[in-house]
Amino acid sequence: MGDNLMHAIQYSTYGGGAAGLKHVEVPIPTPKQDEVLLKLEATSLNPLDLKIQKGLIRPFLPRKFPHIPATDVAGEVIKVGEGVKNFKVGDKVVAVFGSGGGLAEYAVAKESSTVGRPPEVSAAEGAALPIAGLAAYEALTRGAGLKLDGSDQQVNLLITAASGGVGHYAVQLAKLGNTHVTATCGARNIHLVKSLGADEVLDYKSPDGAALKSPSGRKYDAVIHCATGFPWSTFEPNLSANGKVIDISPRPIVFMTFALQKLTFSKKQLVPLIMLPNKEKLEYLVKLVKEGKLKTVIDSKHPLSKAEDAWAKIIDGHATGKIIVEP
Ligand SMILES: NC(=O)c1ccc[n+]([C@@H]2O[C@H](COP(=O)([O-])OP(=O)(O)OC[C@H]3O[C@@H](n4cnc5c(N)ncnc54)[C@H](OP(=O)(O)O)[C@@H]3O)[C@@H](O)[C@H]2O)c1
Repeated sequence: MGDNLMHAIQYSTYGGGAAGLKHVEVPIPTPKQDEVLLKLEATSLNPLDLKIQKGLIRPFLPRKFPHIPATDVAGEVIKVGEGVKNFKVGDKVVAVFGSGGGLAEYAVAKESSTVGRPPEVSAAEGAALPIAGLAAYEALTRGAGLKLDGSDQQVNLLITAASGGVGHYAVQLAKLGNTHVTATCGARNIHLVKSLGADEVLDYKSPDGAALKSPSGRKYDAVIHCATGFPWSTFEPNLSANGKVIDISPRPIVFMTFALQKLTFSKKQLVPLIMLPNKEKLEYLVKLVKEGKLKTVIDSKHPLSKAEDAWAKIIDGHATGKIIVEP
């Protein structure tokens, strides 16, 4: 690799899946005033990265072509912009990018989207956290209104797709609060999801799993819905009188149902949730990992030279935990 050039993965049009990714040499980016330049140590992939490639978030993302995908990274600071106050060269960090850049050897991050990473938190664990961890945190706190300090009266929760990137964090965070957690996942992951703290686990392919029925007969005060494709009619009979379904992959029908339920003062509600990355909350998650209170399940690790394998895995939709790419 020549001076000032780095290996990166790019795509130049919408669609194309893993075959649309190209290995390129591009200039190492230069940090602006409020940015740090990172030598990346790990990057995690999210279903969001696929949605961006498919053009589902146009015209907002990608901002332009060619585009280097992936938003969640861990690395070491190797240069700081003039206005950066809280980081210096050599600091280990976790960062989240607004518009990609993570499938590369180097990337720039805004200081405001970067948090310190203590030695107890590995690069892979750090990179896994931003989108998935924050979505789980936001769905539980902002969506379901839970406190994660155990001070609530006991809340009955259902977490769907509890073996996935968001779901496996949601189970662990939920159990920091006063909750009874019912979870759904595939049969092969039941033991894992129980080990993360779920009180009862349903195989989503079983009749009760498909109907989302609690084995202990509980009605859910809140559902953290990390799977996709269930109609309101499946949730409704399983909810307590004021039960809410927090849908983290909201389609237009979810926004319409939400609006209609508001207008009709419905007590049971389907609530769309879009997570907005937040530095303080990311710091909180890193601290939980440091303290051993939040674990990251790693589905698989792939070298940057085989990033298309990682991309194909996230397309497949059967990750257990998080998919990591390492330079
Ligand atoms: N609103 C936001 O800000 C936000 C943020 C992050 C993610 N999301 C969205 O949240 C969703 C989940 O994200 P993720 O990263 O957790 O995905 P993921 O890791 O790719 O989820 C894969 C897991 O889901 C399980 N699964 C699939 N269908 C299921 C079902 N019907 N019931 C139970 N488990 C099922 C799979 O189990 P098997 O392998 O056994 O099938 C697999 O373990 C995605 O749609 C993503 O776009 C939204």
